[in-house]
This record gives sequence, structure tokens and C-alpha cells, in this order.
Amino acid sequence: MENMLHLAPCHASVPDCFVVPPDQLPPAASAAVSLPVVDMSGSRAEVCRAILDAGREFGFFQVVNHGVPEQLLQDMEAVCDEFYYELPAAEKAHLYSEDKQKPNRLFSGTTYETGGHKYWMDCLRLAFTFPVGDSTSEWPHKPHRLREVFEKFAVLTRGVGMELLRLLCLALGLRPDYFDGDLSGGDVILSVNHYPPCPNPSVALGLPPHCDRNLITLLHTGPVHGLEVVYDGDWIKVEPVPGAFVVNFGLQLEVVTNGMLKSVEHRVMTNATLARTSRAIFIQPKEDCLVGPAEEFLSEDNPPCYRTVTFGDFRRMHSVVKLGSSSLNLTTNLKDIQKGMYQMN
Ligand code: OGA
Ligand code: NI
Repeated sequence: MENMLHLAPCHASVPDCFVVPPDQLPPAASAAVSLPVVDMSGSRAEVCRAILDAGREFGFFQVVNHGVPEQLLQDMEAVCDEFYYELPAAEKAHLYSEDKQKPNRLFSGTTYETGGHKYWMDCLRLAFTFPVGDSTSEWPHKPHRLREVFEKFAVLTRGVGMELLRLLCLALGLRPDYFDGDLSGGDVILSVNHYPPCPNPSVALGLPPHCDRNLITLLHTGPVHGLEVVYDGDWIKVEPVPGAFVVNFGLQLEVVTNGMLKSVEHRVMTNATLARTSRAIFIQPKEDCLVGPAEEFLSEDNPPCYRTVTFGDFRRMHSVVKLGSSSLNLTTNLKDIQKGMYQMN
């Protein structure tokens, strides 16, 4: 618990375990560009076209007029700040755990395998099912509005994700409920990532380059820059749009669409002066759900590029392949992971 970054009044220098060796530091990003912004209040046909275009060109886009009330987003930001800045350490000590199997926990560093290397981020990670039922019973009770605000945010944001999946189905020629059920029915994860100011941003990363391994991710950030995305072989900075969600496709969506939609690599940079907090909702399949390319994307000319495996096996293989790779090469190619599965079987 003492090693949590946000508990230190300030950091005079970057401890060695956070320092990325210079030869492994990723290349700097070019100027900030705005990701395409999709207005969800448009007609369904317009929105479908916009997400498909943005999704195919960038793999990342932002959505506005998504129906999650502005007041709730502000409340969510306020409660997250209260959690990290005002709640005394003793009140959150019981949440701290380095056990990756625990569904609800507070930790420092990253969930990715790092070979001992650490990233400049604290994280409160909470899981729930949908419908919620009593799945949030282990969530923290403090600050006092946390439960109420987090649950509303989580449910409504998941709803936006499900609507986007339905619109994608229309755009892709899949039946509208293709992703309903087990493909999106695993535990939903709410991650509150906190990146404190870093005394030497040129040597430490907030999150290493990675692809999300779930189905689809929705991210709400404040005005502080930090997220960078690969576009056309270069890193570009994401310009935050107030009140928007940043949306990106996970590896499972790449598999289902047989590679038509790509899960794009992204990372988080640190900065010296401003703390940054982001809130992510990860929608993912059930552990025993078989995920493979949908028939609609296959033909004699388009054979399956990915194997059909359960999401649980995929995750296990994903971490094994990652463990074998260098600590900073965390975006093991999806095809390598699938090849690894082939070799394991
Ligand atoms: C993630 C992620 C980006 C951010 O949690 O997978 O990419 O800005 N987060 O926190
Ligand atoms: Ni991510």
C-alpha cells in the first residue's frame, strides 16, 4: 500500500523500477490530432457510417451526445478525485492487493505482465455483472457517494458500448443482437486509472504500448493529455473532447470481424505538472464463450485468419506469450498469440 504513487505528497525523482531503459523508450508522438468525433444523436444510418469509417481508419474514435448525463460525468470525476486525494490511506488499505485474480482491488503499476518493471499509474479496478444484482456488494463504501455514482456511470456507459456494438452490427451486416449474450456477457470492468505528475516524464510511461484484449472499451478522460494511439505507423496524441467517450476495439472484435476491424495499439505518457485520471469500461465475453471469426466475414477468398478459442483460453495464452516477450514489447501480435495457442495444443 505504501508504494501507491498517489499517497506520496510529491515525487522528487523517478525510482529506478519505473525508469524505462533509453533504448526501449518508444518514439515521441507527433502533434495532437483529434480523433473523429461521432455524434450519436444523428440518424442511425449516419452514425453507423461514421463509426465504421472511423473504426476502419483509426480503430479509435470519440462519441458525443451519447446519452450519459453531463452531471453524472462530473459527479464521477469528483468522486474519483475524492477517492484519490481526500480519502485517508487507512480507509483504502483493505482494497489494496497485488493478487491479479481479485476482481475488485486497488494497485499500483499495471495489470500487464512487466517482468518487474513498473508504470506510473495507480488503479482502482472494479468488476460487475449485468444486470448488476448484488455483483457490486464488494465495491468500496467510501467516499460516501462512490457506490451510487460508480454504479450509475458503469451501467450507463456499458449501455453506450452495447448500443455501439448494435450499430456496428448494422454497419457490418451482422444480425443486430450478434454481440448480445455470451460475447459481451462476461464481467464488466470499471478501471479508474490515476497518473500523478511525474518528476521526469521522459523516462517513465503511464501505460506501455498495448492493445485491449476485451471486446470494446469506452474511456472517459478529463482535459489533460496523455493518451497516444498508433496511426499510420506513427504515434499520435489524442486531443480530449469535453464530455466525450474515447472508444476503441479490443482484440476480440478483431477476431470476430476476421481482421476487418483492428484493435489498435495505444499507450499513456506521463507529464511533470498535471495529474490525470481516466475512467474505462471494458466489455468482454464470458470466460467459456467461444470467440472466432463470424461466418459473415468468411468465404473461399477470405479464409479465417484467427482460430476459434474460448475467451478464457485466449486470456491465458495472451499472458503466457506476453511473459515471454521483453517487458516493453507488450503488444504481442494477435497472430503470434494465436500461433502460440496452436503450438500449445
Ligand atoms: C487502459 C488504457 C488509457 C488511459 O486502461 O487499457 O488504455 O488513458 N487506458 O487511461
Ligand atoms: Ni488500453
